Amino acid sequence: MNVDVFTLFPEWFEWFSSQRHVSNVLAAGSSLECVNVREHTPLSGGQVDDTPFGGGAGMVLRVDVLDSALRAHYGVDPVLLRERRRVIALAPGGRLLDDRLVDELAGEPALTLLCGRYEGFDERILEHFASDVVSIGRYVLSGGELAAMVLCDAVMRKLPGALGHEESAAEESFSVALEGQPEYPHYTRPAEYRGWRVPEVLLSGHHARVEQWRRERSRERGLDLARGRSQG
Ligand SMILES: C[S@@+](CC[C@H](N)C(=O)[O-])C[C@H]1O[C@@H](n2cnc3c(N)ncnc32)[C@H](O)[C@@H]1O
Repeated sequence: MNVDVFTLFPEWFEWFSSQRHVSNVLAAGSSLECVNVREHTPLSGGQVDDTPFGGGAGMVLRVDVLDSALRAHYGVDPVLLRERRRVIALAPGGRLLDDRLVDELAGEPALTLLCGRYEGFDERILEHFASDVVSIGRYVLSGGELAAMVLCDAVMRKLPGALGHEESAAEESFSVALEGQPEYPHYTRPAEYRGWRVPEVLLSGHHARVEQWRRERSRERGLDLARGRSQG
């Protein structure tokens, strides 16, 4: 997979790229490239934003600046780009990132991520350049960089070679294998600690009973989530 991130803070991604599962994916042939939007602005003094029409606080990322950065990087009119690859603008009010969307994106050969800052994007960027507008939750971060990293992390750990042999993304919370439910509880040694005993079934060595217990706990947690209670 080829991931390009358009950001005003490309250095944020240096640490991220060095994380094990990300570097594993990069070593296996994927790429994660950052494009510094400021380097492509057609405006003087590195200007990338402007005051909002209609008044109000904050600054808005300009559509001509994003146009210029996307065009410089891909050599095409950005309006046409989204027909070739997913162009995802990160925004608090976008489609919520969940396991289904992560699976969908993990199947793409290429992603472009647009990180907003300040008051956010000029709406024409979302309307004309983005194929998707994605939110990582109903709260407001200072910029799209952390949101882009969350999306990349979730997508990349689904790619072949991301995880070590001891880990698997197949049977995790919200996966198809768990019927979209949260994962069941895990325990490890010691079997008893301060009087807190691991459920007997997990010590039984009875594979089918363990499987059944796990499915039941997973479904219970799903019901708790639906009722607004959470665990684990
Ligand atoms: C301070 S926020 C802008 C918030 C915007 N004024 C609003 O009220 O919706 C700046 C940028 O951070 C990113 N961002 C903030 N919260 C986000 C979230 N929950 N999910 C995805 N991106 C987010 C977006 O790229 C956004 O353009």
